[in-house]
Parts: sequence; structure tokens; C-alpha cells
Amino acid sequence: MAETSAGEGPNPLTELHERRELSKLGGGVERIAAQHERGKLTARERLDLLLDPGSFVEMDAFVTHRCRDFGMEQKLILGDGVVTGYGLIEDRPVYVFSHDFTVFGGSLSESFAEKTCKIMDMAVKAGVPVIGLNDSGGARIQEGVVSLGGYADIFLRNTLASGVIPQISAVMGPCAGGAVYSPAITDFVWMVQGTSYMFVTGPNVVKTVTHEEVTSEELGGATTHATKSGVAHFASKNDQECLLGIRELMGFLPLNNQEDPPRRPTSDDPNRRAAELDQLVPENPNKPYDIKKAIQYVCDDGHFFEVHEGYARNLVVGFARLDGRPVGIVANQPAHLAGVLDIDASQKGARFVRFCDAFNIPLVVFEDVPGFLPGTQQEHGGIIKHGAKLLYAFCEATVPKITVITRKAYGGAYDVMNSKHIRGDFNFAWPTAEIAVMGAKGAVEIIFRREIAAADDPVAEEARLTEEYRQKFANPFTAAERGYIDDVIEASQTRPRLISALRMLENKRDQNPPKKHGNIPL
Ligand code: HXC
Repeated sequence: MAETSAGEGPNPLTELHERRELSKLGGGVERIAAQHERGKLTARERLDLLLDPGSFVEMDAFVTHRCRDFGMEQKLILGDGVVTGYGLIEDRPVYVFSHDFTVFGGSLSESFAEKTCKIMDMAVKAGVPVIGLNDSGGARIQEGVVSLGGYADIFLRNTLASGVIPQISAVMGPCAGGAVYSPAITDFVWMVQGTSYMFVTGPNVVKTVTHEEVTSEELGGATTHATKSGVAHFASKNDQECLLGIRELMGFLPLNNQEDPPRRPTSDDPNRRAAELDQLVPENPNKPYDIKKAIQYVCDDGHFFEVHEGYARNLVVGFARLDGRPVGIVANQPAHLAGVLDIDASQKGARFVRFCDAFNIPLVVFEDVPGFLPGTQQEHGGIIKHGAKLLYAFCEATVPKITVITRKAYGGAYDVMNSKHIRGDFNFAWPTAEIAVMGAKGAVEIIFRREIAAADDPVAEEARLTEEYRQKFANPFTAAERGYIDDVIEASQTRPRLISALRMLENKRDQNPPKKHGNIPL
């Protein structure tokens, strides 16, 4: 402690400064160097990149753990392994916590959990998002059940805050055991390639129980979770890319569920037509094209912030802006598996739709879907209950909802993809749209089986009937005659039509019947 010159005891200001500097060192210079050697930034360096320069205000920097076993009373480190507080992202407030791996491996003690819960409680009360940067060896082993209780306190808060404030997690180091469930409950999970992993049980336990040999990276690295399991929405190359990505995402989100998402002025003309779109859909209905091109041509400045890019690529989801207003895009991707809906795509879409609905972000759907994926793998895997999630999510959503049918809207998938029947506000179709129970060939094979068999020339008869069916249904007009779609629009006009529809929906008010909560087929 600093002494005054007269030896009257510590100078309060000097003591404050000394303690502050000590707390900033975390586990000390050697462990900071080790963190850098692993290719990771420290907890504080990460916050510096995440937040607007100089905006971070720390809380509870002087908290220490209360463990008095295993010699821990000799090892008191100010802050105790987690840096918490608040700051700004593009001038808008966020609460943050950042695990400090240099302090007991970022492991969670009772005090650590209390610090985390404190900012979560304050964030919910103030209607401000929480961003958590995770880099932790899990439960503080020296503290035992107290640490487990601390985790449960956090899980409860994650759950209660869900749908009230956006919660974003970056996993930037180890995240194992039950600790994975806090990020899992939050809205978006980032991982960093090569330095982060998430799993419920690690490679050693896997080997003992199932005799499988697997590395940490294969079992629960960023690529695994961003492409196979879908646990991670984003996989970044390094800490910097991850933190900048979070900043960008925040620009699309309101601070809480009572706010509208932030509008950003744009120089992109709301009446801009995109002539390229009139040529986008190939004449051959079985030929793929890239739906992301449609999204880019339509949205402000061609900018699309894709979510879950590497997972279930047959469905594209993400954020964009139309005349400065954020929208959530959900689009079938004909360039991957013909844009079919399968288990993964249904779950991915449903979760995204529910996020947008919870946070007042209008939904814009681009539809080109041949139906649900057939097969035993899908049926036995529960495509019925998983597909129902997407249907349920669109049905219950009360935000403005607009669909543009670019080509196929076949079968149950027509209903599911935000049709008018399930409260889609505007449904538009391009002239290339085909709205039918199924493709013409399949339909004719079923309903004219006998006639085809009895014909003198079955092949010619099948071709004739197929053409007749195609004429009748492989167009948008049968649906337009019934008002199932509101208008058939030139593809090039999609941007102005979407923007004018969104303007009409700006004050939309719709609600679901009073209930404790629905029972989405989980
Ligand atoms: C206390 C821990 C710790 C922990 C690491 N440390 N994990 N201290 N509790 N859980 C300490 C280490 O002793 C070491 O201290 C420092 O952090 C750095 O750890 P290293 O092992 O040197 O680092 P590294 O080689 O990078 O390995 C990191 C690691 C490994 C993979 C995370 O430390 C590890 O396996 N830790 C234990 C993980 C674990 O089993 N946790 C409990 C999971 S169960 P010194 O002083 O030597 O630098 C769980 C349940 C949650 O979390 C339940 C919620 C419901």
C-alpha cells in the first residue's frame, strides 16, 4: 500500500490507483504473454475492440473470491477472472462481461457468477443488450457446488432475459461441460477458429464411453459447430474478426423488445429497380441460381449480413436494410439441394424467425422451394416435428411479414413459407412463380396414372397432360385469381414494392391470444 510522506497510513487516491492498476493485470504478465502466444487477446483487449474507444466503464474490479480451501486464501486476484461493466457500440449502450483466462483459467467462482448476474440484472432492468465473451475452464474446481450454483444463477437469467434484450455470446477459448448452456440459450453464438471449442464432454470422456478417437477441434471446434451442429452462428478467423462482427450485428438490433430496430440513412434510392433480377431465374425450372444475388440486388447498398452461413445452406437467413430499416431475410436457396426444406433448415429458419419476431424486426421471405426433403433419414429424424417448428414460428410471428415467390412454391412448403393463410401481410410473386401442390410431372403421374396406361402412346399422353398441368398451375395467376398472392410483380420492381409495403406496415399491430406460452413442437 502507498504510504503518505508523514507515515499517516495509505494515501487513499494512490491506493485506488494502485489497486486499479493491479486489477488490470489479471493473472499477471506471464499469463498475459501465454494468452497472446495461444493467438488470443486478453479479456480487456477484447473489450477495447468490441466497444467504442474509451467507452468501457468497469464494475466490480475489486471483487475477489471467497474460497478458503486448497490454499486459495493466498491467491486473491482483483476482479476474480471476469471483467464486467458497460460501454457503447456505435454510441448505443451494451452491458458486457469478458472472461479472463489468465485468472484461474477464467474458471467460474461464486464471486465471478455474482458479477455476471449483477450486470445481467441491470441490463434487463434498463433494457440494454448483454454481450458475453467466454474463455473459461468451467466451474472453479476449488469451489465445488458453489460454482455449479453460480452457473445455474446465470442460466436462469439467460432464460428470463430471452426475448427481452438481445443476448450475444462469443466463445473465444474453452467452453466445456454445463458451461456451454449459457451461450446456447443466448440469441447468437460466435466462435473463433483454432482457439475455441464447445462440448458437453471432451475427447477423453468420449474415448472412454464410446471408444471414439476425436480431437477437440473435430468434436467441438468453430467449423464443426458452424457447419454440422448449428450451435455456432458464426465462425471467425480470429478474435478481431469476431468482435468486429458482433459490432456489425448490433447495428441491426433494437436495444430491447420494446424498441424498434435502429434506422440508418442510406443513399440507395428506394425506387431503384434492379433490371438484373428479370434475368435471374433460369427458364429451365430445374436449373439452380443463387438467391443471395436477389437479396443483394434488392437490399440497401447490396449489403447482406448472413447468419448461419455454413449451416443448412439450403435456407439462407440474415439481416439487411430496406430504405434504412433493418429486416430479417429468410430465403430458400435453389443453389443448394434445390432449396428443399429439411430438418436443419427448418430449425435454422424457425429460430431466426422467432428472434426477429421477438425484437420487432420485419421479415422478408424469398421463396423457391420444391417441398420437404423425402427419405427415411429425414422422416426418422423427425422432419415432421422439425418442419412444424418453422410453420409454427411463421404462424405466431406478428411483425410485418412479406413474401416474394420467385419460382417454386410447392406443397406444404407453400403454406409454411409465410403464406397469406398464416398471416403473411403481403405475398408477391414474380412472373416465373409456380404455385402448386407439386411439380407437373409428379402430379400427372399420380392423378392420370390410369389414363396414361390406357393411352395408345403413353409417353406422348404423359407429356401432353404434363404440359396441360404446367399451363394451369406452373404460373402465379391461379393463386392471384384467388387473392392468395396480392400481386404479380416484375422481378426488377421488387425493391420499390417491398419498401412501399414495409412503409404501409410500419404501424402494424397484431397479437396472439393471451396465454402463458405456446407449445412449439421442440
Ligand atoms: C480452477 C482452473 C480450471 C478450473 C483451469 N484452471 N481450469 N482452475 N478451476 N476449472 C487453471 C489451471 O489450474 C491453470 O492454473 C490455469 O487455469 C490455466 O490452465 P492450463 O491447464 O494451464 O491451461 P491449458 O493448458 O490451456 O488448458 C485449459 C483447460 C484446462 C483445457 C481449460 O485447464 C482444463 O481442462 N481445465 C479443467 C476443465 C474442467 O474440467 N472444468 C470443469 C468442467 S465441469 P495455473 O495456476 O497453473 O496457471 C463444469 C461444470 C459446469 O464446468 C456445470 C454447469 C452446470
